[in-house]
Formats: sequence, C-alpha cells, structure tokens
Amino acid sequence: MATEPLTILVTGGAGYVGAASADALIEAGHRVVILDDLSTGDSYLIPNAASSITGSYVDRDRVGDLIRDARIDAVLHCAARSIVSDSMEKPERYYRDNLIGSLNLLDAVQNAGIRHFVFSSSAAVYGGAQSALIPEDSMTAPINPYGATKLAFEHALRSYAQAFDMQVLALRYFNVAGATERVSERHTPETHLLPRIVAAAQSGEPFTLFGADFPTPDGTALRDYVHIADVAAANAAAFAALQKGKIGSTFAAINIGSGTGTSVREAIAAVERASKLSVKIDQQPRRDGDPASLVANIDRAAKLLGWRPRQSDINRIARSLFSAS
Ligand code: UFG
Repeated sequence: MATEPLTILVTGGAGYVGAASADALIEAGHRVVILDDLSTGDSYLIPNAASSITGSYVDRDRVGDLIRDARIDAVLHCAARSIVSDSMEKPERYYRDNLIGSLNLLDAVQNAGIRHFVFSSSAAVYGGAQSALIPEDSMTAPINPYGATKLAFEHALRSYAQAFDMQVLALRYFNVAGATERVSERHTPETHLLPRIVAAAQSGEPFTLFGADFPTPDGTALRDYVHIADVAAANAAAFAALQKGKIGSTFAAINIGSGTGTSVREAIAAVERASKLSVKIDQQPRRDGDPASLVANIDRAAKLLGWRPRQSDINRIARSLFSAS
C-alpha cells in the first residue's frame, strides 16, 4: 500500500457496514480494533484478523483507556441506532446514543490527540424535498430523528475539526445494499427494500410496494442503491486521502452512492432475474415521509477520495444477495 499502516478503531464493527469496512481496512494493510456492544451487531461478523472489545462507544472514560492501550491512530465511527421508523417512535434513544454518545466518543478522541476521524453519515440528512442528483451543498432538512441526529453530529464534527485541528470526513451513505462474501444485511425488524423483496421471492408471500403514484417514470420511488463493498472501499479510501493530506479542509461531507436512480419496480425485476423466482406485488399507498427521489451526485467522492462505485449496478447488487454465505 502507498501509505503507512494505521491502527484504526472501528465502532460498530460487528454490524453490516462496520464489518465490511473492517475487512476493507485490513485488506488495505491497516490494523483494526473493533468496539461493539453487540446490541444489534453479531460477533461472527468480526473479522478474525481484527482485535475486538465488547463495549459501547458512549462510555468516554473506557474509550479513552482503549485508545491509549491499543495505541489507536484514527477512528471510523459506524456504530449507531439506524432504523428510521424506530427513531420516530423513540427519538430519545437516537438523540442519546447517536448524538450525546457520539459526542462522548469525540471528546475521548480529541483528548487523546487523534486527528483523523471518519463518520458514517447518511443521505437522511437531506430530508425529503430533493430533485435530480443531490450534491453535498444541497439544503439539509432531515425529516426524521435518525437523520436529525446524523446531521447534528456532523455539525459537532465540523466545529471540533476546526477548533482542535482535526481532519474529519462525514461519508453520507445513500441506500446501502447487497452482500460481500462474508457480510450481509440482517436487521430486526427488516424494513429495507432489497431484503424484503428477497424474502417475498423466497417465501411466495406478496411483497408490499409502498406507492405507485410518485412523479417518476414508472410511478414508484427512486433510490440510489450502493453496494456494501463499494461503501467499505469508500471508507478505506477516506483514510488514504486523510493520510495523504488530500482533503484541503478540516471537515468535508461526501456523498457515497451509485449516482443512479433505481425504482422499486426495477429493484423487483433485478431480484427476479437474479433469483429466477417471481415476486407477487401487493400495491399499497405511499409510506409516511417517503420522498419520490433520493439520488446522489458523487463528483466530490471522485475528486477528494479518488473513489467510484464499482459494484453498484442493481443487477450485481441483486446477484450478491444470492451468492452470499
Ligand atoms: N419499499 C417498499 N416496500 C418495502 C420496503 C421499502 O415499497 O417493503 C420502498 C420504500 O417505500 C422506498 C424504497 O422502497 O420508496 C426504499 O426504502 P428503504 O426502506 O429500503 O430505504 P429508505 O430510502 O426509506 O431509507 C434508507 C435508509 C435510511 C437512509 C436512506 C438514504 O433506511 O437510513 O436510505 O437514502 F437514510
């Protein structure tokens, strides 16, 4: 590799994005230390080559000790509460963990003099009223507590980076999907589109399609599905860019998406092709708060990280769901 190996603390490294990203960091030559309380993560997702500690990122003193003992150089903060509907019902948990908890982590990081921090943010910061391809300087107006807490922590990161001479990247993931050989998506409850289509295809039960009257070509909502392996590669590219001093500012938010809109009907067709099964559709009204279109402009990721999606074609994403272990 072109840069020095780092020892990187990965919070949430037993989760979907964290585990795949830990694999990519190890592959890039770094040492990975995982901190996960296993409340939603699975210990089997922790890579064998990583060290791991069971515990929470919200415990500032413990994280401070861990950073010192493990000689951490940089942090990838993936751990979070991440279910949008849950955030509407239990906002206090999202503010407490995603915001206050993350501030505790950030204080420990700053006290230890760590300068490089990469944050798993979300397209949920943009809210609902977007059209065309969304660049990072679009208006941010989250429509649920999940997105609001991601945005609030981005603001804190920007201020800390400036005041304490840190270099921080907030990667705003769009709709992360698909599976690597080792890591696939398992949420309880599962609310995401692709796993729900797969479940319907395999069980023969109808798939509930929310909304066929959007102002889109086929009437169903457009989203930007980005392969989990591409998201993991973006995190590895983020540390490489930080190490090479390529960012040019103390804080940057960067969209991570495919740059292409896929409708719900196109996603169903891709799963049908990949599985050779057919999906029965139960058409229902729109789900509360679902925007018509959320698709990333990904120019900044190319410019700052030298990153492009390589595996995010919807057919490739769908096929990965049937070849995972
Ligand atoms: N959908 C259905 N039926 C289902 C599930 C989803 O029709 O059973 C539709 C939704 O209505 C939406 C689309 O499929 O139009 C995608 O829905 P998801 O729940 O998979 O994803 P969202 O776009 O609602 O949200 C996801 C993450 C957020 C993140 C956002 C970023 O859950 O955390 O992507 O784009 F912020």
